[in-house]
Amino acid sequence: MLDQGAPPQNRTVTVPLSTGARLMRRKPVERLVAEGGQGEGGALRRSLGLWQLTMISIGATLGTGIFVVLGEAVPKAGPAVTLSFVIAGLTALFSALSYAELAGTIPVAGSSYSYAYATMGELIAWVCGWCLVLEYGVSVAAVAVGWGEYLNELLKGTIGVTIPAALSAPPGDGGVFNLPALIVVLLAMVFLMGGAKESARANTIMVCVKIAALVLFCAIGVQGFRSGNYSHFMPLGMSGVSAAGATLFFSYIGFDAASTAGEEAKNAQRDLPRAIMLSLVIVTALYVLVAAVAVGAKPWQKFNDSEAALAQIMRDVTGQSFWGTLLAFCAVIAIASVVLTVLYGQTRILFAMSRDGLVPKVFSRVHPKSGAPRANTVIVSLFCGVLAAAIPLGQLADATSIGTLFAFALVNVAVVVLRRTRPHMHRSFRVPLSPVLPAVGFLLCLWMMGSLSTVTWVVFGGWMAVGLVFYFVYGYRRSRLAAPSVPSEPSAPSAPSEK
Ligand code: ALA
Repeated sequence: MLDQGAPPQNRTVTVPLSTGARLMRRKPVERLVAEGGQGEGGALRRSLGLWQLTMISIGATLGTGIFVVLGEAVPKAGPAVTLSFVIAGLTALFSALSYAELAGTIPVAGSSYSYAYATMGELIAWVCGWCLVLEYGVSVAAVAVGWGEYLNELLKGTIGVTIPAALSAPPGDGGVFNLPALIVVLLAMVFLMGGAKESARANTIMVCVKIAALVLFCAIGVQGFRSGNYSHFMPLGMSGVSAAGATLFFSYIGFDAASTAGEEAKNAQRDLPRAIMLSLVIVTALYVLVAAVAVGAKPWQKFNDSEAALAQIMRDVTGQSFWGTLLAFCAVIAIASVVLTVLYGQTRILFAMSRDGLVPKVFSRVHPKSGAPRANTVIVSLFCGVLAAAIPLGQLADATSIGTLFAFALVNVAVVVLRRTRPHMHRSFRVPLSPVLPAVGFLLCLWMMGSLSTVTWVVFGGWMAVGLVFYFVYGYRRSRLAAPSVPSEPSAPSAPSEK
């Protein structure tokens, strides 16, 4: 097994490894960092500052959860849905602390896949990377489906027509093909082909629009606030609160997206931890505020799984359909930015996995002009687009949650392992009270996974089985660490140092 702590300079490993040792082989942190940015035929460009990184995380987080899923969660918890948001946010917070530490220590594109590779070995890293395809690739599809629903709402409010069900819903949901979902993924693909900087600029504008829309919602919604709506705060008890919390966890997925931009950040070690924590704080504050206003303006019994709950409240409070339509317009922008940033994250994770030899080389090919992995972007977009067009939202969202929770759980373990194997390594951010807080984060993730349905677990098991077959047929043999002679890379100037 490669020694995690060995110096990286010009070393050649010639000892043949047993199968067990090959599955456990780890990639030295220095090598991960030294390879940062390098792809086939070119390098990614370092163009993102703290502001853009924070916007990437907010962009990937704030979307379907607050605009669509809130309407499903309120009937489960009543006015205490605000508490559900806090609980789901706390679950995210523990893992966010671990992400912040590792993103600052190992600032590369692979996010938790790379952290697992450095700490728990190749097999676990592969499992983590495969889960990230659920978190990013499948969630793009889920979110794109939500976008289609709001687009129809907008069309109805402006020109009075909607896209017929046959063309706006997948088979199993009363349609044939979800065309809007495919379109939004292809639009995001076009932006991403232009490069990270251009995509970040478009994302920043969209994030400003969605934050403004939610603030506007609060300003208008508060005028319809009735304290009586809060007279029975927890009508369905604590079990209702936690069930709503599990549903709402989906709305926090994405805060880790900045960690996939480690190789395009100007000062990754300083800015990534800040961007992750900042985005989580902003998003949680907005969620709790919006939920508090929504339940204050509309009795919780009347939410009834409404898909466009916020738009409906705007209409009811003002008595004018204009405001509901405006909110639907903002939701269309908001959810498009989730598609853009999550798709971005998926391409960068596959970029890192490809560079390590675990997936085909085409994923790490960089276009010389744009500095973007264009072939990767096209393949991922087509995969997500077809998934979005053909599969119903509910099934996609649950698969996303279980994969994400498993990846988060592994990140909490990775923090503790790296503290033990590399205790003196420089860390720009440290999880307080480690290993207690990472352990709490790990347990919370498992607890939330346990609350998901048996069907979701079966889907997860099937997904993992396919992933393992792919690994043993492809990645196990082609891994760059599998070569009998592995010259190590010279360490980059920015490689983390022992202090
Ligand atoms: N958190 C993302 C959303 O709510 C997935 O759309």
